[in-house]
Amino acid sequence: MQVAVLPRSSIAKKALMAVTGAVWIGYLILHMWGNLHIFQGQAEFNHYAEFLREVGEPVFSYAQVLWIIRIVITVSLAAHIWAAYDLYMQARRARSTSYAVKRVVQANYASRFMRIGGVVIILFVIFHLAHYTWGWVTPFDRSDPYTNVIIGFSNPAIVFFYLLALAALGLHLFHGVWSMFQTLGLNSQRFDGFLRGLAVFVALVVPIGFATVPLAVLFGVLN
Ligand code: HEM
Repeated sequence: MQVAVLPRSSIAKKALMAVTGAVWIGYLILHMWGNLHIFQGQAEFNHYAEFLREVGEPVFSYAQVLWIIRIVITVSLAAHIWAAYDLYMQARRARSTSYAVKRVVQANYASRFMRIGGVVIILFVIFHLAHYTWGWVTPFDRSDPYTNVIIGFSNPAIVFFYLLALAALGLHLFHGVWSMFQTLGLNSQRFDGFLRGLAVFVALVVPIGFATVPLAVLFGVLN
């Protein structure tokens, strides 16, 4: 029966990629929006960073909600990478028997870019954690995230790396959101224009929103 084979099928893995990708999109929208508090000044931004630890009190204790979010996004990222790797290996095995060159060329470019972009994003996330969560990269004061960000983005090489990663993130989001709609079966001709518009919107708004902070520091708007 179809249902019995579903968990092993590529459809289930694509659904897993769509759901875990959607978790990250939600996280990224909130993170990007929250970061914009930096334009309200040092006190507001540091207060917001502290709020992230206190949120949910007194039902949850200090930093518990934050830890729940951390666990959800870490598990989602691991599942997203696992499913991507498994689908890739599956496609490679299938391709080694029959190679329908012309038809797969375009899809291959997109999926190759998704893999390369995905690796860039993972490397970025590791660097980003080392930078602003663990404080290993530039001078760091745990109680003053505002100053950490200002010092961090005073280095043009770091800003360049962030912008590169954000460009990769934008392209990854565009193709990812679009694929997500296909997986969810929302690809009827009628909605194509709207869904493509939504994919472009997410893929532009998230990276551009993030990029405003390093650019504002680099050009002296924030100091
Ligand atoms: C230029 C844009 C960004 C800025 C200024 C920024 C800023 C920050 C800061 C200051 C923190 C530490 C928060 C704290 O501990 O209070 C943080 C954490 C984090 N950021 Fe970003 N971020 C940016 C982009 C991104 C992007 C694009 C991603 C993912 C692709 C991301 C993922 C994370 C994650 C996973 C954490 C750890 C959250 C936690 O442990 O609480 N950030 N970010």
